[in-house]
Amino acid sequence: MTGKPKLWVTRRLSDATLERAARDYDAVINFDDGLSSDDDLVAMSAQVDAIIPCHSERFTAEIAKKLDPRLKIIANHSVGVDHCDLPALKARGIVVTNTPDVLSDATAEIAMLLMLGSARHAAEGDHLVRSGNWDFWSPSFMVGKQVTGARLGIVGMGRVGQAFARKARGFDMDIHYYNRTRLPPHQEHGATYHASVESLLEKADFLSLHCPATPQTTGLMNAERLALLPAGAVLVNTARGALVDESALLAAIESGHIAAAGLDCFVTEPGGNPSFSAHRNIFMLPHIGSATVRTRDAMGFRALDNVDAFFSGRTPKDLL
Ligand code: DGY
Repeated sequence: MTGKPKLWVTRRLSDATLERAARDYDAVINFDDGLSSDDDLVAMSAQVDAIIPCHSERFTAEIAKKLDPRLKIIANHSVGVDHCDLPALKARGIVVTNTPDVLSDATAEIAMLLMLGSARHAAEGDHLVRSGNWDFWSPSFMVGKQVTGARLGIVGMGRVGQAFARKARGFDMDIHYYNRTRLPPHQEHGATYHASVESLLEKADFLSLHCPATPQTTGLMNAERLALLPAGAVLVNTARGALVDESALLAAIESGHIAAAGLDCFVTEPGGNPSFSAHRNIFMLPHIGSATVRTRDAMGFRALDNVDAFFSGRTPKDLL
């Protein structure tokens, strides 16, 4: 290839990332930050050698078939890659990478915020004070569930699950985890391994989801599994909306079996699930797990590192 490779950055990434992209590549940057259509993805594939997309752009099998052979690498600015049909992209010879590690702490912070916030009525309390309607106090007012010393179940003990376990240890939680394979002791962070999700659920007064969305994990938290949680459990999801059967969660919230939920992701994004809004014990955030300045810089740089490696003939660190 003569000259700099042409790179399309599909969203407005951090300033440091965009500066580096513009310096090192013939970069096309979407400063408007608008979401690209499927047609845009296909059209741009004929004009660039590399794309840095976010999880908001969907590279389905159908789109993969239409991509132009000019496109050589999709370097995702995300750890989750459920928006990419990896076998279909591989079949087209397109290299795909993601950005693991760098967002684990930021996402675990949001899981902690959701766990504490949903257990202790944070959003509801804020709303009450802010709306000027706080005119009452009693010992039985906004009584929540104590996190310190409680039993925590983690589904998916990858990097984010481990970062969350480390933080939960600071709250003296009795941590249990399920993972496809048992981790070596130094990665268990004192947590007890369960060989099945079902056995984990029985121990989880708080349950936090940290596994990827795959055909196997879609609808993981269905009515049957929600019923296995102890009465009054709290569910936290910072992974992907698809892991939770939202109708089943709604029913479990309405019956009181689930005391509260803290959700950063939803089946439909953006937007979320309008049926959740009527329930004050569902604490919701708009998919901001990795949204810190430091993490967004690190994600952008990690995506660029992968593009750099590819065009200098090395194997990208985060090749999928
Ligand atoms: C990820 O990296 O997968 C986060 O959900 C943000 O896209």
